[in-house]
Amino acid sequence: MSNYHIKHLEEYFKVYRKSVREPEIFWEEIAEEHFLWRKRWDKVLSWDFKKPEISWFEGAQLNITENCIDRHLVTKGDKTAILFEPNDPNEKAQHITYNDLYKKVNQFANVLKQQGVNKGDRVCIYLPMIPELAISLLACARIGAIHSVVFAGFSSTALSTRINDSDCKMVITSDGSYRGSKTIDLKGIVDEALESCPDVKNVLVAKRIHSEIFMKEGRDQWLQPLLDQASTECEPTLMDAEDPLFILYTSGSTGKPKGMVHTTAGYMVYTAYTFKNMFQYKENDVYWCTADIGWITGHSYIVYGPLANGATTVIFEGVPSYPDFGRFWDIIQKHKINQFYTAPTAIRALAKEKIEFVEYYDLSSLKVIGSVGEPINEEAWHWYNDNIGKRNSPVIDTWWQTETGGIMISPIPYVTPTIPTYATLPFIGIQPAIMDDKGKELNGNQVEGRLCIKFPWPSIARTIWGDHKRYKETYFSTFENNYFTGDGALRDATGYYRITGRVDDVIIVSGHNLGTAPIEDAINEHPAVAESAIVGIPHDIKGNALYGYVILKEIGNTRDQNNLRKEINQIITEHIGPIAKLEKIQFTNGLPKTRSGKIMRRILRKIAGGDTSNLGDTSTLLNPEVVKEIMANVL
Ligand code: WTA
Repeated sequence: MSNYHIKHLEEYFKVYRKSVREPEIFWEEIAEEHFLWRKRWDKVLSWDFKKPEISWFEGAQLNITENCIDRHLVTKGDKTAILFEPNDPNEKAQHITYNDLYKKVNQFANVLKQQGVNKGDRVCIYLPMIPELAISLLACARIGAIHSVVFAGFSSTALSTRINDSDCKMVITSDGSYRGSKTIDLKGIVDEALESCPDVKNVLVAKRIHSEIFMKEGRDQWLQPLLDQASTECEPTLMDAEDPLFILYTSGSTGKPKGMVHTTAGYMVYTAYTFKNMFQYKENDVYWCTADIGWITGHSYIVYGPLANGATTVIFEGVPSYPDFGRFWDIIQKHKINQFYTAPTAIRALAKEKIEFVEYYDLSSLKVIGSVGEPINEEAWHWYNDNIGKRNSPVIDTWWQTETGGIMISPIPYVTPTIPTYATLPFIGIQPAIMDDKGKELNGNQVEGRLCIKFPWPSIARTIWGDHKRYKETYFSTFENNYFTGDGALRDATGYYRITGRVDDVIIVSGHNLGTAPIEDAINEHPAVAESAIVGIPHDIKGNALYGYVILKEIGNTRDQNNLRKEINQIITEHIGPIAKLEKIQFTNGLPKTRSGKIMRRILRKIAGGDTSNLGDTSTLLNPEVVKEIMANVL
């Protein structure tokens, strides 16, 4: 019988054991019972982590959009597939049913075909969070074109690098976008980018802000008139299981961004299966993930995973602070959201605001609240659990990566007991390994080291576009026969996993490995602290010493700073030990962050270490101005 929906802990353990002992039988059953295939596979799995080569459901044929749309029409044609909440709360929300979605995707797919896009061609999508974004992904998938979504917050240089790397022949964009009280000239950015992309012959432009824009003769066309003339029927192109579905860029610790390639069948099976279980989605639930579709979280858990399950998925155009800091909670009340999935950085930002912004709204529809993207610190976890989940909705701290395609380690809500800051247990089929520095697997519990995955799962990225060598070097060369995540993790006495942060951020002090995340967690416990980041600086005796950057809440700014420094070190000593005490603490108003909300530690490390000669590329920062402030006040 089906193991598609896990409902209690014993069942999890039973199914997990099966998925590890007989992975091929296990995944074959899941694939067989829950998806629509045009041709069955010849072989469930072949793999070799040395080459590396991984293939799932080889020989099968399918189209992912038939699974995400067509097959739901009989039973759910009138159900809302996409619920669009505009930036302006006074603009009406839009309900796009599965029937509507079918027509819109087919029209868009027909337009792509008319414009000369063929199976295997790359299409760059640079759109704000409007329905056309999700629809354009699906339209590409309908005809077998490979989409490469570039987050619409990236600069023109970042956009052109990505367009050229994967040789996209078309760009889909809009006249502009709304972001809170601002409008952004997206088309202008595209025009600038395309000056260095000679191979792009075609630009389709969706109308959103109705601004006067430049349209290049022979290259740029408005999307809507083309859609209006297109047929609402488009036969799905049959795809081989291992045909690429999309490319998505992720930044490496060095060098140019890596175009991670995800393929069709395995990605579909894994994202659908994880979505169902991680969010315990039930018919009529309304699910909302606040990520941008420009990131993997949006691909897997706004578009493909939810739609493959026939869910209602929300697309929110705006920002959490507009028109005020109650916007997220307003949307939850307004659409009676049942599952809410966001990032720790958003949680911390909102936790800093007055609690009245939360209390004003009725959040009782919530059943599951999720976190993704970075380790969630203990204070943020509790704030989220107490004030948003009201201790009634489990917090799921989901660990995964662009490269993994889907959630890898996470509690399953109502199944796995949660502990703050622990991603807890591997999902079904996932076989983590913790390695020591010498590459030996650390067996048993109470171990800490580098996190690898030792067996393939269906949605692992298959290569880096155009650079298989780099794929091998980055992920399969550090630990033989293992996929290396680049993260550190510990397994506690009960077998629960805690992600300790990127391994590049591990700092060795007097021979002790210290993860930055647990230290930051401890510091953030201090009532006057809003956020913090730790880096290592060279030290004559200890090898490395710890340098902390700390953002204070309002109350902290009126306090004696030397006393605060003492208190912070006291808390660290209590939580971790005197070894983790900070050598220096710099108070700051901000931390340099990437547009996806991650702290750019590389920059902090350089400044703290007194090396400001070459800070590298700061153009992708959300707030490049804080770099100057930090440099001016370095201790
Ligand atoms: C980090 C996002 C701790 C981790 C889906 C990983 C996390 C990187 C968590 C991938 C979590 C993501 N706890 N760390 N719950 N989720 N990370 O590719 O370092 O944008 O390797 O994918 O984010 O980021 P990416």
